[in-house]
Amino acid sequence: MKAKITINTEKTISQIDERIYGSFIEHLGRAVYGGIYEPSHETADDMGFRGDVLECVKKLNVPIVRYPGGNFVSGYNWEDGTGKKELRPKKLDLAWQSIETNEVGIDEFQEWAKRVGTEIMMAVNLGTRGPDEARNIVEYCNLDIDTYYANKRKENGFEKPFGIKLWCLGNEMDGPWQICCLSAEDYAKKACETAKVMKLVDPGIELVACGSSHIYMPTFGTWEETVLRKCYEHIDYISLHNYYGNPDNDTPKYLSQSESMDRFIKTVAGICDKVKAEKNTDKTINLSFDEWNVWFHSAEQDKKIEKYTVAPPLLEDIYNFEDALVVGSLLITLINNSDRVKIACLAQLVNVIAPIMTRTGGGMWAQTIFYPYLDASIYGRGTALKTDTSCETYNTAEIPEVPYLTNACVNDGDGNLTVFAVNRSLDEEIQLDIDFEKGEKYTLYEHTQLFHNDLKAENSEEKPDEVKPENVAVTDRITLLPHSWNVLKFKKD
Ligand code: AHR
Repeated sequence: MKAKITINTEKTISQIDERIYGSFIEHLGRAVYGGIYEPSHETADDMGFRGDVLECVKKLNVPIVRYPGGNFVSGYNWEDGTGKKELRPKKLDLAWQSIETNEVGIDEFQEWAKRVGTEIMMAVNLGTRGPDEARNIVEYCNLDIDTYYANKRKENGFEKPFGIKLWCLGNEMDGPWQICCLSAEDYAKKACETAKVMKLVDPGIELVACGSSHIYMPTFGTWEETVLRKCYEHIDYISLHNYYGNPDNDTPKYLSQSESMDRFIKTVAGICDKVKAEKNTDKTINLSFDEWNVWFHSAEQDKKIEKYTVAPPLLEDIYNFEDALVVGSLLITLINNSDRVKIACLAQLVNVIAPIMTRTGGGMWAQTIFYPYLDASIYGRGTALKTDTSCETYNTAEIPEVPYLTNACVNDGDGNLTVFAVNRSLDEEIQLDIDFEKGEKYTLYEHTQLFHNDLKAENSEEKPDEVKPENVAVTDRITLLPHSWNVLKFKKD
């Protein structure tokens, strides 16, 4: 089939906030222990961080990592993970029914973040705890002053503040699975008061309030309105979370899921603007899509995992090739909504629903979804352009007129344009025509694709390169193979 993308470098969506390529490390399964941290591993550094994982995360150039949860944070005492390791308590983690040794806490994690060159997005516990602990951790992390918590950090060996700018006011507090979940009214009040004290401690921080845990929550919409009405003046972002999957093995429907993400984003942005109008204010609340990914493969195996052990192999989804196409199209949607989405976290980064997998005591490998994430993080920085796309469509039971071609275009401001494109057709190639308006001349100089004949092909430690990107010869015709992820790089003539 034929398709056409028209690009005009003056028609922009937004400067992309690089934090949309963020990720997430939770104290869950083997994300921390056996993932980023494994002192006995042959590549471990002086603090016990796995060197192979560290190098791989650096390669992804992850700009921000959410920590320490997730559901975990709603039962977490942050002080347990500070100070002398031998004195740290072993605790029950009720969220994941595991044992938390507290060998890693904020002291270590901020060091890991420095070593990989990323920022931290820190969540506070609004489940079992509240404003008091939240203000104390901001003081511990961010203040250079002669007071109790700032001095504690110094006593623990960290003279300089960690300087954590972005904070989450709890996690998924609307979810009945959450430890001490709350009604919208109760959460709004708690979040508002917590926000006030946190910003009194450090006025330089930014705050993300919890939105709905996913688009199908019964309180979706009213939750956001209630929270925004109460907290508007004290917060900067509202969160969105959503996971996608293909449990019915309906690939055309699965590949259309980024359209649903698009609708979710536009609905939440609309609610923010409705409350903005009610308040008659200039302040805009932007969006933090701080949990998104494919998550469904591990559901059955997780039911068999023994409870209350250290670092059980939970949520270890092994991703296949079609999952990578979905992740690629979700990234395209985030770029195309970069006027409102300023933060997004691929949940998660290592072992737990993750692009990077390790074997405890062994090697590591890149899952299929690693590649679109890498491409977007490296080449998706700059200004997102509005593209005008014409192509054929198909219908699913949920979404009418799903375009076979989904794409985004990013201008790096230095004469380079990158087009990210997914061909959702399972059997037809797309002959793509790219037209530059205003007589601008750009030349395609590189085309890479992620393609596999088998939609269910996976990478593993034994076969790490089963699914990996390849170069496509550049000619005067652009062909996008059926079910493929493509990165097209253009240079200004
Ligand atoms: O990312 C895994 C879990 O998914 C998080 O802990 C929680 O916030 C969400 O439900």
